[in-house]
Amino acid sequence: MTEPGEPRRVGVVCFDLYGTLVDLAPLDVACEALAPGRGGPLAACWRARQLEASWLRTAMDRWADFEVVTREALDVACAEFAVDPDPEAREAARRSFIELPPRAGAVEGLANLGRAGIQLAVLSNGSSAMIEASVRSAGLDERFEALLSADAARAYKPHPAVYQLAVDRFGEAPDRIGFVTANGWDAAGAAAHGFRVVWLRPPGAVLPAVPAPIAGEASWATVAGQFAPA
Ligand code: LAC
Repeated sequence: MTEPGEPRRVGVVCFDLYGTLVDLAPLDVACEALAPGRGGPLAACWRARQLEASWLRTAMDRWADFEVVTREALDVACAEFAVDPDPEAREAARRSFIELPPRAGAVEGLANLGRAGIQLAVLSNGSSAMIEASVRSAGLDERFEALLSADAARAYKPHPAVYQLAVDRFGEAPDRIGFVTANGWDAAGAAAHGFRVVWLRPPGAVLPAVPAPIAGEASWATVAGQFAPA
């Protein structure tokens, strides 16, 4: 039993990608070109419609990869904002989603975990191609043993099949897998699967109204101290 404050012994730490490893803030600027003066709200709507579609498609068993989900979510958000950008402007916004920078502190946090001898992986809803492009664009390639995409489960987080990808890839029991995410719903899903979840809680965020036995909260500056090699 891990005492409060004692590092959790794990065989691998998996990371959510969008909003966790990479920073979504530049989407506000990208969306400013689509809706001048309303870039931030449009970007927030785009992300909300993207996640909503991922949950609906999983519940409806109507799979499409995250490139399709992301593209369709942008189209719906533009319609909600009564803007009709040309295809080039939409493509530029979608490209910005792939080319997001690392979050502040992420490079150092990953390096600290790597120095502790812990395997690292990405576990994301992104398509395999999106994850590879995003990790490379953020300069985070070479840091991960594996890039695990929901493509292999044909379902989106928080469906258990997505978290099971990490159990199957590393051959570790769920309670030997650390998981780091800034998304509360993702923290709940991973914790429900038995992972040792550390939530990078955004200011003012609360966990959703579902069982969410997470192990703790951290920031990128403190996340390395949450885990130790098994
Ligand atoms: C991901 C999104 C959902 O990377 O944050 O899976």
